[in-house]
Amino acid sequence: MTAATSAPVGAPATVGNLKRTLMVPGPTALPPEVVEAGARPILYSRSPEFVAVWEDVVRRLGTVFQTEGDVLVFGASGTGAMSSAVANLAARGEKVLVASCGNFGDRWAKICADEGVEATLLEFEWGTPVDPAAVAEALEREPGIEVVFTTQSETSTGVVNDLPALRAAVGDRILVADAVSGLGVVDLPMDRWGVDVVVSGSQKGLMTPPGLAFVAANERAIARSAGLGPGGFYLDWERTRKGGSRSPFTPPVTLVCQLQAALELIDAEGLQNVFARHRVLGRMCRAAVKAMGLELLGPENPEANVVTAFRVPEGVDGKAIPAGMKARFGITIAGGQGKLSGRIARIGHCGYYDYRDIVTTIGALEIVLDGLGHPVELGAGLRAAQGVASEALGAAA
Ligand SMILES: Cc1ncc(COP(=O)(O)O)c(C=O)c1O
Repeated sequence: MTAATSAPVGAPATVGNLKRTLMVPGPTALPPEVVEAGARPILYSRSPEFVAVWEDVVRRLGTVFQTEGDVLVFGASGTGAMSSAVANLAARGEKVLVASCGNFGDRWAKICADEGVEATLLEFEWGTPVDPAAVAEALEREPGIEVVFTTQSETSTGVVNDLPALRAAVGDRILVADAVSGLGVVDLPMDRWGVDVVVSGSQKGLMTPPGLAFVAANERAIARSAGLGPGGFYLDWERTRKGGSRSPFTPPVTLVCQLQAALELIDAEGLQNVFARHRVLGRMCRAAVKAMGLELLGPENPEANVVTAFRVPEGVDGKAIPAGMKARFGITIAGGQGKLSGRIARIGHCGYYDYRDIVTTIGALEIVLDGLGHPVELGAGLRAAQGVASEALGAAA
């Protein structure tokens, strides 16, 4: 054996990182049932077997979106659903409002620009939520706006917006919310709250690989889109609706079967229990981060349970935190996006995540931060996370 193939002798850089753990807000970890569904022989997309799967998936998606309205499924990433919402709900040259508090909110405005739709971009500081009062004022200043685009869970900052308050602020205009990262994580009863359109994707709370995009739309949104004419070819809502349980194009059959397995798991756990689990995970993570002497990005919100974002402490190289987590522990966390690049780090906990994932991540983060010169008492974050979990579990043995 040559020296080049032997491990160097001395202090190990890791204590074994054989296991890969994804703690980013998408794509997220897959449950074994979903992995297994992906390994099954493919079904013919026009066969009765697949049509039955499709119908079951659309029905179960309706439960997760908490809507009696239409749920449209596209072979696309989440951005495809966002693009379809702009193309189907706004005419070229029409004025709309985009209320953004981060990278994904800004994406609405970019899509509008591309579609020839005139978006007024109302921006809020990254890390803070959209202010409903400011939205109402902006709409008063600019008459003639009929559609407002915003974000439920702003993944770039961890912020979750107050959709009921935004619903009230936009009056009788159409409200479109991006729930790509929040669907199946943070409660969003769209019918009850009167959110007209919610868009999402498969690869976050829904525990399925990337590649499926969803649009849930109520009657008045569907009527508006039908009145405007085709919203492109592939992403046209009417064409997709008319296809019913036979998608007008070859659907990503395997992904749909995997999604069915994931939706069965959500159903078995119970949607409200899924939200409750995420509430505990979010609280554990926030408590741990604070106990490590780190500062959360923006004000704390008990419903912001998709991703925990914290500021990189003074004197620490922001990019070294995710790099150290990956290299030393095989744990992937996310850095900041856009103007927050290098300034924050983000721990995703949306989807197939539980107590163990948070404890492992926090335990590793303490060591990484310690190594990077941030003074942290080993165990402080872990204790805080355990405290939250223990309290949540109550006295039950
Ligand atoms: C809130 C939000 N909107 C939109 C997107 C874009 O989704 P995709 O990357 O699937 O196109 C993401 C993905 O991270 C997201 O988190």
